[in-house]
Amino acid sequence: MSTSSIDTKAFRSLSCGVYIVSAKNGTTMAGCIINTLLQVTSSPARVTIAINKENYTTGVILESGRFEASVLAKSASMELIGRFGFQTSADTDKFADTAHEFDDAGTPYVSENTVAHFGARVIDKVDVGSHFVIVGEVEFASVLSNEEPMTYAYYHLVKGGKTPPKASSFISSESDAEPSANAQPEQPQEDAPRIGWRCKICGYIVKTEELPDDFKCPMCGMGRDMFERIEL
Ligand SMILES: Cc1cc2nc3c(=O)[nH]c(=O)nc-3n(C[C@H](O)[C@H](O)[C@H](O)COP(=O)(O)O)c2cc1C
Repeated sequence: MSTSSIDTKAFRSLSCGVYIVSAKNGTTMAGCIINTLLQVTSSPARVTIAINKENYTTGVILESGRFEASVLAKSASMELIGRFGFQTSADTDKFADTAHEFDDAGTPYVSENTVAHFGARVIDKVDVGSHFVIVGEVEFASVLSNEEPMTYAYYHLVKGGKTPPKASSFISSESDAEPSANAQPEQPQEDAPRIGWRCKICGYIVKTEELPDDFKCPMCGMGRDMFERIEL
């Protein structure tokens, strides 16, 4: 009988970039962060993306048959990444406060803090379990700035970013992945604080009266200034 051993740290040595993939179907616009865009052929130019079936953006891509992908620059703020990577287009208009343009097929792409964009037509889809791998034929591409592209390693090491559960690279056993680091333990109902703090970026709630000045959101890495006081 064969045995297998998987050291999840090995996956961290895989190199990739950070992108915002976006789509529009009728009047509905959606977009999310991915780190799984790959160029797979050059003639014709084709790319793949691995995108979670539960992401709102996935449905909009499949319904419209098109997607755009913008390459994030190192200068992209954690607020931009938080908006597209930790919130859902199902209840948030992510483009309202985000500079964007439309390609010739009418698909929106993020144009702030981005290096280049690719507009693609969906030509195939592979079901890989939690995610679809979507194959796109590139029909539009242009350079947007001469900034340096952000790598996934830079996002983690320099920006201090976290990996949300729907990302392809999420590993539930790693402390990085679970909102437990600074979380308060569950308390009996009668003792539970009635005041809490909600992260405006990812919605994470901390049940406590006061947040320390150096508090960082265990889910998306935002600082204390991105938390709002709420009544529980
Ligand atoms: C750094 C980073 C990388 C991510 N990579 C992926 C990915 O490759 N595929 C994916 O489906 N989701 C990925 N996500 C998660 C989605 O961006 C996230 O689930 C988003 O809230 C979905 O938004 P939507 O519901 O508007 O589509 C990533 C998020 C971050 C912050």
